[in-house]
Amino acid sequence: MGDELAQANKILKEFEHLVETGETREYSGRLRCGVDLGTANIVLAVVDENNTPIAGASCPSKVVRDGVVIDYVGAVRVVTRLKAQLEQALGVELETGACAIPPGVAEGSTKALGNVVEGAGFKLAGILDEPSAAALVLGIDNGAVVDVGGGTTGISVLHDGKVTFTADEPTGGGHMTLVLSGALGIDSDEAEIMKRDPAQQREVFAVVKPTVEKMAAIVKKYVDQKPVDIIYVVGGACSFDDFEATFEKFIDIPVVKPHAPLLVTPLGIAFGCGN
Ligand SMILES: Nc1ncnc2c1ncn2[C@@H]1O[C@H](COP(=O)(O)OP(=O)(O)OP(=O)(O)O)[C@@H](O)[C@H]1O
Ligand SMILES: [Mg+2]
Repeated sequence: MGDELAQANKILKEFEHLVETGETREYSGRLRCGVDLGTANIVLAVVDENNTPIAGASCPSKVVRDGVVIDYVGAVRVVTRLKAQLEQALGVELETGACAIPPGVAEGSTKALGNVVEGAGFKLAGILDEPSAAALVLGIDNGAVVDVGGGTTGISVLHDGKVTFTADEPTGGGHMTLVLSGALGIDSDEAEIMKRDPAQQREVFAVVKPTVEKMAAIVKKYVDQKPVDIIYVVGGACSFDDFEATFEKFIDIPVVKPHAPLLVTPLGIAFGCGN
């Protein structure tokens, strides 16, 4: 298991570098894309047939909320722009793309997400569920994957490589921002900047810790029913240094956070594209 996490971290570090620098890599075979239409960010991940990260791009966005497209034209515009940006960097057209939904999203909303991917010019290869996509990157067959995004906390339980349970509840990074904004009497844009400032992390975490414990309570409720030996946390809102220790203390099961938790689900969608 340690080896798998080390391997996942190596791939995530490389993908993070590609997203941050705009660099691309040599590839072999067919390219596949993952389109993560998140509440806070839209991320495109490109991998080759060996699941090697080849390119990536990310953009803050408010066009999708918890798996529901609230601005279709805006969503297509962002994905089209990111796709064109990567195509220019790679010098090749990106043909196939997949996307993902938080567990429990209604069928109509799922279709709308697929329409965004197609509207941006991709051939839609499939629609995954988010925590299961993350599990593909982590290379795990057993355990719980908890995706703490901007809007929701999604949980997926795997046994012997099969997803045996999924759930999604509305507490995410956006709630932390609101709590911080209320506690300090600052507006939410200011609170969002402060929340992500590493220099203020200690002060911020003291304020948002009860929200993290609420997320842990959500997860505990489910893993009490579906026991697991290990929990993996991914998603941008688990970026705090003390996040996994807080979860672990509350749930009393080992909690592991991979490198670049924000990028795990997008990369996993690319891994699952065409499978
Ligand atoms: N360094 C950081 N420290 C704390 N929170 C962070 C940090 N970086 C990002 N976040 C938070 O992570 C959230 C975004 O995470 P992510 O991109 O995984 O969500 P999303 O996929 O857009 O949303 P969802 O999956 O809920 O639809 C935001 O609330 C953002 O404020
Ligand atoms: Mg997400």
